[in-house]
Amino acid sequence: MNLKQRTFLLVTGASRGIGREFAHQLSGQIKAKGSVVALLGRNQALLEEAKTQILNSEPNLAVHTYSLELSTARTEDFTKILETARGGNGDFERAIVIHNAGTVGDTSKRAKEIGDTLFLQQYYHINVFSAIALNCEFMRLFQGIPKLVVNLSTLAAIAPISSMAHYCTVKAAREMYFRVLATEEAAPETLVLNYAPGVIDTQMTVQVQREAHDPAIVAMFREQREGKTMLTPAQTTARFIQVLEAQKFKSGDHVDYRDETY
Ligand SMILES: NC(=O)c1ccc[n+]([C@@H]2O[C@H](COP(=O)([O-])OP(=O)(O)OC[C@H]3O[C@@H](n4cnc5c(N)ncnc54)[C@H](OP(=O)(O)O)[C@@H]3O)[C@@H](O)[C@H]2O)c1
Repeated sequence: MNLKQRTFLLVTGASRGIGREFAHQLSGQIKAKGSVVALLGRNQALLEEAKTQILNSEPNLAVHTYSLELSTARTEDFTKILETARGGNGDFERAIVIHNAGTVGDTSKRAKEIGDTLFLQQYYHINVFSAIALNCEFMRLFQGIPKLVVNLSTLAAIAPISSMAHYCTVKAAREMYFRVLATEEAAPETLVLNYAPGVIDTQMTVQVQREAHDPAIVAMFREQREGKTMLTPAQTTARFIQVLEAQKFKSGDHVDYRDETY
């Protein structure tokens, strides 16, 4: 994949963790004049930090930040952000969207205890509905140019994990949406990748370690963190870029950090 083309890149959850590192490292690959980077999150101060970090190494990029609450975001919010970030310049050679924003849900609850519909609505809105709505607007506004659509997936999308009933169900639904998209849209014009980044030292795994009801899950995260075998955002992002460069995946594939076939 030629990342040196004039590119529009949008990353959700770019204020911290994996999304911030994806935005940073991908921006370092996208050097063509006229490229645009759009960073979404809620915390404006952290988004501005992420922007500064990118501009320090890539001063020629146009970097925009947008604060948006994904639990209530509407289709029109995504349209507005995409149109504003794209600006008058529809002249991109490639558009990339990284659907990274995500939340782990309430890991203190067992599957039989997660029936609160208000919580479920908000939780699914953040993790599934917003990703689908953003993606539909992205596909519409960038029709006619090559697109790369990346979903931050996880082992939890394809395997049941105790304490993670919320998380497993949204991640499975979200991955299936992107797999259907891949079956309907021709590659390589639209290339879809479900990337499972491994277990990463971010606020998300700190939260699981603090709150999970299953002691085995808590112990697993603690051992990885204390034993320093937990991956860093930088490590998984570097692997993601390798996967893109090697491009051995088929559109829609689930590619895990540790899967050496990719
Ligand atoms: N960490 C892991 O081990 C791991 C493993 C597999 C998959 N993943 C996936 O990788 C992605 C990133 O995870 P991470 O570990 O980097 O998580 P993180 O450190 O908790 O960061 C989550 C990001 O999502 C944004 N976000 C959260 N709630 C939001 C909301 N309501 N509205 C708008 N933005 C929101 C946050 O930004 P603000 O706080 O600024 O809103 C933040 O930038 C997730 O999709 C996760 O499922 C992570």
